[in-house]
Amino acid sequence: MDAGLLGTGHYVPENVLTNQDMEKIVDTNDEWIRTRTGIEERRIASDDVDTSDMAFFAAQNALNEANMTAEDLDMILVATVTPDTPFPSVACMLQDRLGAGKVAAMDISAACSGFMYGMVTAKQFIETKAYKNILVVGVEKLSKITDWSDRNTCVLFGDGAGAAVVGPVSEGKGILSFELGADGSGGKELYQDKNNHLQMNGREVFKFAVRQMPESSVNVIEQLGYNKEDVDYLIPHQANIRIMESARERLGISKDKMADSIKKYGNNSSASIPIALSEAVRDGKIKDNDLVVMVGFGGGLTWGAVALRW
Ligand code: ACO
Repeated sequence: MDAGLLGTGHYVPENVLTNQDMEKIVDTNDEWIRTRTGIEERRIASDDVDTSDMAFFAAQNALNEANMTAEDLDMILVATVTPDTPFPSVACMLQDRLGAGKVAAMDISAACSGFMYGMVTAKQFIETKAYKNILVVGVEKLSKITDWSDRNTCVLFGDGAGAAVVGPVSEGKGILSFELGADGSGGKELYQDKNNHLQMNGREVFKFAVRQMPESSVNVIEQLGYNKEDVDYLIPHQANIRIMESARERLGISKDKMADSIKKYGNNSSASIPIALSEAVRDGKIKDNDLVVMVGFGGGLTWGAVALRW
């Protein structure tokens, strides 16, 4: 039995922070942000909206699209590095708020690769028939760990949530191949410091990303014996348009076949891939039988990719 996506959904806060707004916060400018990153604006959650709230809204949308209720779920996985609290987990909060049964629920910490780790974890439980329907959420309230005085990082991030219900699909469909990896020796390049702020060596992370994203994208295709030309749609982690382009160019696909939500939302860490996925589905960019590649990288350092037959 193969595991695929039965429904997707997302939520982004209403409050928009444009590059012009950023110019009033730090010494930066719209042109620099746009050309170096591709970002034009980002969404910031208000003080009374925490990570679990955004996870809840996205999860409801995914369940609706899957024509399911929370009672149909056998497990809840939430990828986040910005939980409301280290414990209880966001997954447990979500289980209670959705009204799901007393099913297994846990958070996954793999930074921007978190949703990839979540999907691959769900796939294992489904294919071994241990569980049937698993809710996987990627959610971040990065604004609460952003150092708003550091122009090197604060212009990059935004808040939001994306979700998918993963469950059994017919043979040959769903998540066909995957690659997950980690290199703990690179932890110092991207981490949360003692003041709870995100710290990053941008140049080192950039170098890692432009090597790893294209490589992992190709690996999941080659595992299947497919060629790059077989890829119909690419959803890279929305960290920087130049990094995303490196994966797109390696696969040799046209710009309209790559999800590009970074303009509107910035980098949402583990939420970026599921938000882009949900929007692509909603906008009809992914069609029945399409071969979709999703690929991410992030703090850890971590990386992950899946190839999925829609
Ligand atoms: N506005 C204006 N100037 C800026 C800004 C800003 N917001 N930020 C940095 N600069 C300056 C720097 O100070 C530097 O000036 P200097 O040469 O006088 O020192 C100059 O711009 C160039 O800096 P670079 O680091 O060379 O800029 P680069 O082209 O590498 O872009 C960036 C920086 C966008 C951060 C890039 O390195 C990048 O995208 N790295 C990867 C980031 C990433 O993907 N992180 C993932 C984190 S997600 C997670 O796991 C939570």
